[in-house]
Order: sequence, then structure tokens, then C-alpha cells
Amino acid sequence: MAYSIVAAEPGGIEVLERRELDPIVPDASEVLVRQTAIGVNFIDVYYRSGLYPWPVERDFIVGSEGAGIVEAMGQDVSTFSVGDRVAYTVSHGAYTSHRVLPATSLVPLPDSVKDEQAAAVMLKGLTTYYLIHESFPVEEDQTVLFHAAAGGVGSLAGQWLKSKGVRTIGTAGGAEKCVIAKENGFDHVIDYRSQDFVDEVMALTEGKGVEAVYDSVGKDTIMGSLACLKTFGTLVNFGQSSGIPDQFRIPDLAKGSFHLTRPILFHFTANPSWLKQASEALFQVIGDGTVKVNISNTQPLSQAGQVHQMLEGRKTVGSTVLIP
Ligand SMILES: NC(=O)c1ccc[n+]([C@@H]2O[C@H](COP(=O)([O-])OP(=O)(O)OC[C@H]3O[C@@H](n4cnc5c(N)ncnc54)[C@H](OP(=O)(O)O)[C@@H]3O)[C@@H](O)[C@H]2O)c1
Repeated sequence: MAYSIVAAEPGGIEVLERRELDPIVPDASEVLVRQTAIGVNFIDVYYRSGLYPWPVERDFIVGSEGAGIVEAMGQDVSTFSVGDRVAYTVSHGAYTSHRVLPATSLVPLPDSVKDEQAAAVMLKGLTTYYLIHESFPVEEDQTVLFHAAAGGVGSLAGQWLKSKGVRTIGTAGGAEKCVIAKENGFDHVIDYRSQDFVDEVMALTEGKGVEAVYDSVGKDTIMGSLACLKTFGTLVNFGQSSGIPDQFRIPDLAKGSFHLTRPILFHFTANPSWLKQASEALFQVIGDGTVKVNISNTQPLSQAGQVHQMLEGRKTVGSTVLIP
């Protein structure tokens, strides 16, 4: 029986409940996908808790990435056939066994990428792609700082940055996570729960600072991130796992004529040609082994609440995948 995990209203994990689905028929430009694997991301928590406003009043389905098999399609869709393996990332709706999606939001999966790998990286991997190629396009021998280096995005970023010859400093909470971040390619890892990361970055860079900081932690790190930048450095704030960084003021950028950007993946994926070329680049580095996908936790979709609790409690490393 087809089913979804639905939140009746924003709140804690108790709002997530299983509901049976009526049969779904795709519109002319849509594809019906039977999902085989679903990725878990911090954005799911932001939506479930209500930090991010809901596009509907009630009964919302969180989840932003998945993979599966094409079961049917509307009459205008010529790019996919029944039985094709596909993957996607969109803002919500993934915690479900079956769903319809616009054909333009799907990408075909090559044999070299498994369904679970794709479900784990469509959002995190494409985010990593734009962060290091577009938000601050890295060059060989530059030094960058990346927070939450043992997390889903961080684990992919460490490996991809290493393959580009970039010197990477990561931060992670606790000794165990620091080891994992190192295994994922970071040259230096700072335990920012027990060490002052600004002092450590300055020591590692002989007082010069870094060319860019990729900061998804937000409130707890943002001012320190600015203090780690070289003159003309770039702060890429792409998330707020510790809370919204509201202490920042524009004059803070004047200290070093800094650049600041606050990107969102879905502005990039709205362009189908970007989605195509970025996902091809992502599948290439996964397929050839440059970037390994660390799926540390695979759970039935019915366990979504417990998985959220772990993510919010800083208990996860790498990626978590739900199986419908
Ligand atoms: N803008 C975009 O387009 C975009 C796209 C994808 C993801 N993101 C953002 O990227 C970040 C990483 O996403 P992810 O799904 O891969 O998550 P994740 O990194 O696996 O998990 C978040 C990590 O943030 C760290 N953290 C620091 N302070 C925290 C706190 N107070 N509460 C909870 N966690 C805290 C924890 O690592 P430590 O224990 O090591 O500190 C935690 O494991 C999130 O902020 C997400 O919103 C943004």
C-alpha cells in the first residue's frame, strides 16, 4: 500500500504520522515515481519544526531528495520511460513511497550510482557542487574553512575539495567526529566544542586567515567565521543548524572588504540545464570513486521521527537514508 509520512502541523517529531495514499495519476508533464530511497537533511527539520514557513496550512510532507523507478508518466513526457531509474531534489514532499514530480526536476541515474547513494547526495552533493564551484569557486592551493565537516554536506565537501588540491580546515563537534572529518579528506580538523576555532585557524594559517569560510552552523559560528577571513575573503553562509545568525551587521564586512553570500540550492536547480550539468558532474565524481558516499544510517521510512531526533541532537555523521 502506498503511504506517506505527514505532519498535520509544525512541531516536534510527534507530529509525523503515517497515512495511506490514494492512487496517484501524473498530469501531462509529470512522472510517477515509486521511491526506493529517500535522503534526510537538516531542511526537513527546519520545515517540520516550522522554522521554514509551510507552503500549505496543514498536512505537509517534508523531505527534499530521493531516488526510485518511473512507474507512469503524463502524455507530454518524452524524456523518461517506465522502469527508468531516476533521482531528484526539490524543497519538500519526499517522505512517501510514491510521488509525482515534474519531469524537468528528475535526472536519470547512471549504473555507476546506486539508488541509496543518489538519495543520499542529490541535495547534499549538488549543494557541495555549487558551494565550491559557484558561491566561492575554489582554486588549487587556496585554504578554506568548512564547518560541520563530519556532517552530510561536510563529508562530501572534504573529499571533493581535496580532489581539487585545496587545503581544507574543517570543524566538528567532538573527537569522534574529528576523526571522521579527517577520513573524509580534511587536512586539519578543529573540535569547535573544546577549542577556539578562530585561534586554531589563525595558528594554522600563520595569522593570515583563509580565502573562504563555508558556514552552515550560523548563530554559534558566524562572527568567528568572519574573524577567520583574509582581506577580500568570502563568507558563504548556507545554513543555520545552531540558529539564525542575527547578530551579524553589514559594517562587520568592512574589516576586510569581505564578500558575503547566502545561497539556496533550489535557486540553482530551477534551471534545468544547471541541474543536468551539475548532477552529471556529481555522478562522475561518485562513479569514479573521487567522492565516496558515507551512508552511516539506513532506516525504514516509518522511523523518520527518530532520525530527526538524532540529526537535531548532533548524533549523526555522513548521510542518513530512509527506505519506504
Ligand atoms: N542553503 C542550501 O542550499 C543548503 C543545502 C543543503 C544543506 N544546507 C545546510 O547545510 C547544513 C548541513 O546539512 P546536513 O543535512 O548535511 O546536516 P549535517 O551537517 O549532517 O548536520 C548538521 C550538523 O551541524 C552541526 N551543528 C552545530 N551546531 C548545531 C546545533 N546547535 N544543533 C544541531 N547541529 C549543529 C552538527 O555537527 P557537529 O556536531 O560536528 O557540530 C550537526 O551534525 C545545514 O545547516 C543545512 O541547512 C543548506
